Amino acid sequence: MKIFSSGKDSSSPGAARVMERCDQLATISSMSGGICRTYLTDEHKRCNEVVSNWIDEAGMTSWVDEAGNCWGRYQANNDSAEIVVLGSHLDTVPNAGKYDGILGVLSAIEVIDQFHRDNVRFPFNIEIVGFADEEGTRFGATLLGSRAVAGTWNRHWFDLQDANGISLASAMESFGLHPEKVYDADRSAEKLLAYLELHIEQGPVLVKQDVPVGIVTSIAGARRFVLTFNGMAGHAGTVPMDHRRDAGVAAAIAIQQIEKVARRSSVLATVGKIKFSPSSINVIPGSCEISLDIRSGFDANRDRAVTKILEKIQEACDERDIHFTPKEIHSAPAVVCASWLQRLTEYSIMEQDVTAVSLISGAGHDAMAFDSVTDIGMLFVRCGAGISHHPDESVTLEDVDAGLHVFHQMLVNLEAYRICN
Ligand code: HGY
Ligand code: MN
Ligand code: MN
Repeated sequence: MKIFSSGKDSSSPGAARVMERCDQLATISSMSGGICRTYLTDEHKRCNEVVSNWIDEAGMTSWVDEAGNCWGRYQANNDSAEIVVLGSHLDTVPNAGKYDGILGVLSAIEVIDQFHRDNVRFPFNIEIVGFADEEGTRFGATLLGSRAVAGTWNRHWFDLQDANGISLASAMESFGLHPEKVYDADRSAEKLLAYLELHIEQGPVLVKQDVPVGIVTSIAGARRFVLTFNGMAGHAGTVPMDHRRDAGVAAAIAIQQIEKVARRSSVLATVGKIKFSPSSINVIPGSCEISLDIRSGFDANRDRAVTKILEKIQEACDERDIHFTPKEIHSAPAVVCASWLQRLTEYSIMEQDVTAVSLISGAGHDAMAFDSVTDIGMLFVRCGAGISHHPDESVTLEDVDAGLHVFHQMLVNLEAYRICN
C-alpha cells in the first residue's frame, strides 16, 4: 500500500494536500500578482498562523519562538530528550515561486501527520520548524531564523535597515518580539540528534538525471557584499565627459569585472541589486550601490575570487577618482552533509526503487546554520527545468509524492539507526 497516495484515495491526502497548501501559502503575499513574504511583516505573521494550525492538526503542539520561527513538536514514545529537527523556511524572495522552502516545511508536516494517523511514535522527539528568514530579502543578511536557533545570532543585525529605513530591532518590536529575547531562541545546548531538510533542487541536475529526488553532499558557501561607489553628482547637460566622476559608470565597470573574474575562477557571482543616487534622468549619479553575492563549493576558491574582484574594482575606481567602499554583510562557509545521513537518505531512496543520485547544492539553505550544532542531511526534490526564484518554479505531484515517501522512510530508518547505535 502506498504510504503517500497522490491524493487519489482520500485515506492519506499526502502529496495533493502538500501542493494545495503551497498554493494557499502563495496567496499570503505583500505583492499583487506575485509572491513576496518577508521577515517580520504581516504576511510573515499570517503565514505562521496558518502553518501553526496545520501543525496542530497533525498531532503536534505548535509555537512561535523569539526569532519569529514557527515550530511544532511531535512527542517521543519515551522520556528521551533527543530531538530530530525537520526544517526549511517560509519566507521568500520577491516574485518568488511557490515551493522554495515551503515544500520542505509542508512535507515535514505531512509526514508527521501520516505517523500520527498510523499512531507511530519514535524514541526521540521530532520537531518541525518553518524558519522566518532564510532569504534575507528584507534586511540583506541571510539565515537569520536558523542562526538564532543555532545560537549564532549576530547583534549587529539589530541595526540592519530595510528599504524604508526600518531597523530589524524596531521591526521585531512591531511584530511583537523583544529584540534582546532573540537569544532565547537558541536551541544549540539541547540534544539535537540530526537536522533534516527536504528542499527543491533549484537546479537542473535531477531533471538531467531523470530522477525525482537526490542526496545533497555539500552546500556551497556564500559571501554577500554591498559595494558603494562615490563620485560627484553634476548636470547631465553641462559637465564634459572627461570631467566626470560618474559613480554609475564605475559600478558598471565593476559589474563587468565581477563577471570576468567569476567566469575565470569557476565561482558563481551575481549582482542582483543596483541603486543610483540621486537617481534622476538629468543628473550624473554622485553615488551608486550594488549588491554582490558570490559562492562556490570550495571556500578557498571563492575567497580568492573575492580578493581578485575587489582589487580589480579598486584599480578601476582609482583611475576615475571614485571612492570605493566594499561592506561584507554575510559570510557562510560551505558545509558538508553528515556521511551517515547521506547514507540514510541513499538507503531510503533505494527502498523506493529509485536510483540514488548525489549532488552539491549551489543554493544556500538553513541546514548551513545548523551545521555548527548537529549533523545535517538534505533531500532534494526535482523542480521543473531547474527553475527557482521565479514564478515559473514548479514541481509535479509524483515528485512531491516520491519526496514524501523518502522523507517518511528516512525517519523510519533513523529510528532503526538510533536503536542500533
Ligand atoms: O540564495 C540562496 O541560495 C537561497 O535561496 N537563499
Ligand atoms: Mn531561495
Ligand atoms: Mn530555499
